[in-house]
Amino acid sequence: MKYISILGSTGSIGVQALQVIDDLNSDFKVVGLSAKSNVDLIEKQIYQFKPEVVALDDKYSADVLKKKIKDASVEILSGKEGIIKVATIPKADIVLSATVGIAGLAPTLEAIKAGKDIALANKEVLVTSGSLVMKTVKQKGVKILPVDGEHCAIFQCLDGCKDRNSIHRLILTASGGPFRDKTIEELSKVSLENALNHPTWKMGKKITIDSATLMNKGLEVIEARWLFDIDVSKIDVIIHPQSIVHSLVEFTDGSILAQLAVTDMRLPIQFALTYPKRTQSMLPRLDLAKVGQLTFQEVDMDKFPCLKYAYEAIKLGGTMPTVLSGADEVAVDAFLNGKIGFLDISEIIKKTMNVYKDSNFSDSEPSLEDIISADRWARDYANKIIDEHNH
Ligand SMILES: NC(=O)c1ccc[n+]([C@@H]2O[C@H](COP(=O)([O-])OP(=O)(O)OC[C@H]3O[C@@H](n4cnc5c(N)ncnc54)[C@H](OP(=O)(O)O)[C@@H]3O)[C@@H](O)[C@H]2O)c1
Repeated sequence: MKYISILGSTGSIGVQALQVIDDLNSDFKVVGLSAKSNVDLIEKQIYQFKPEVVALDDKYSADVLKKKIKDASVEILSGKEGIIKVATIPKADIVLSATVGIAGLAPTLEAIKAGKDIALANKEVLVTSGSLVMKTVKQKGVKILPVDGEHCAIFQCLDGCKDRNSIHRLILTASGGPFRDKTIEELSKVSLENALNHPTWKMGKKITIDSATLMNKGLEVIEARWLFDIDVSKIDVIIHPQSIVHSLVEFTDGSILAQLAVTDMRLPIQFALTYPKRTQSMLPRLDLAKVGQLTFQEVDMDKFPCLKYAYEAIKLGGTMPTVLSGADEVAVDAFLNGKIGFLDISEIIKKTMNVYKDSNFSDSEPSLEDIISADRWARDYANKIIDEHNH
């Protein structure tokens, strides 16, 4: 029996993780749940999974939840401290980090410090603070098990790799998103509704927009750099529209290992939760004959510059990936709220990074304080661009 806390339990990953746990039945006990403000869903999750501690970031929502829950055996908390309590419950063996954005950083870091293994979906944790997080992981001797499908695939291809020098490169696959075949001219006219309509994955809104701009792949490149401790020059991206090959590793002798499976996040979630065991899955098996064709094509970085900016940010190092990620969160939020167009997202990120590079930037290894202040700066600057754009 493993005891688990789930950060972001009401999100796309959180909900699918609870389906996996429900399916695995007696192997897991949920001890903690957290979310931002989704009272109705977390209330249902409390009745079904009977956690000991629950936290909502939003205090008003936590007060509403407290009034609804009559069961005194659940402690209901609010705010950042409440979420950190969920992340560090002494009983928990493993914490699923599935909050979206930098909001997940502090609780994930505290969970690591408290000696918990982490099933990591929240990629912004490593994007913004990779060196700090991985250093803490080493100090505490805990495991980070990737939930992101591409990283889970690479993790599996490398499991049993006896010689790290034999890795020639990691190849992350990308579906290419809903706008893969559009021209730049067409991209300038796409709507929010088009951008939210991902061809192969159903996900939260932030990652869906990041998939349409290919920033998601850029964030994954940075995540892979830290997870697998590999130079970014050895990480490539290839478009694979069918999303069946979840990623690949090429070795020095030219051999390539890949992981293939159906397109369903519950598989990497289950792998991360049950590792090193593999268990039966509720999912249908991959029928290769039905899939028929697996195709691959190069990425057009001129059409999707966010991927190029992510490479630039991790090559520059220091707090630049934090600035990239902070500007992206603000720009995506503005796009979701109808304040800017699709192509403005990459422009805002580019401008924010350029100004930061010329003024505040240092490539030294950042502390948590440096990361928090770079994130704040990037958000303020990106918001300023958006305000000017709208006046
Ligand atoms: N979805 C996927 O298929 C997928 C695949 C690979 C990686 N990921 C990564 O996994 C992470 C989660 O993605 P998602 O698609 O599951 O996102 P999502 O559906 O938007 O869910 C986000 C979760 O985080 C909670 N949350 C948001 N802001 C918060 C805050 N300030 N404090 C505390 N909790 C907060 C939300 O609570 P409320 O519901 O109350 O707002 C919700 O539970 C992202 O980093 C994403 O890149 C997702």
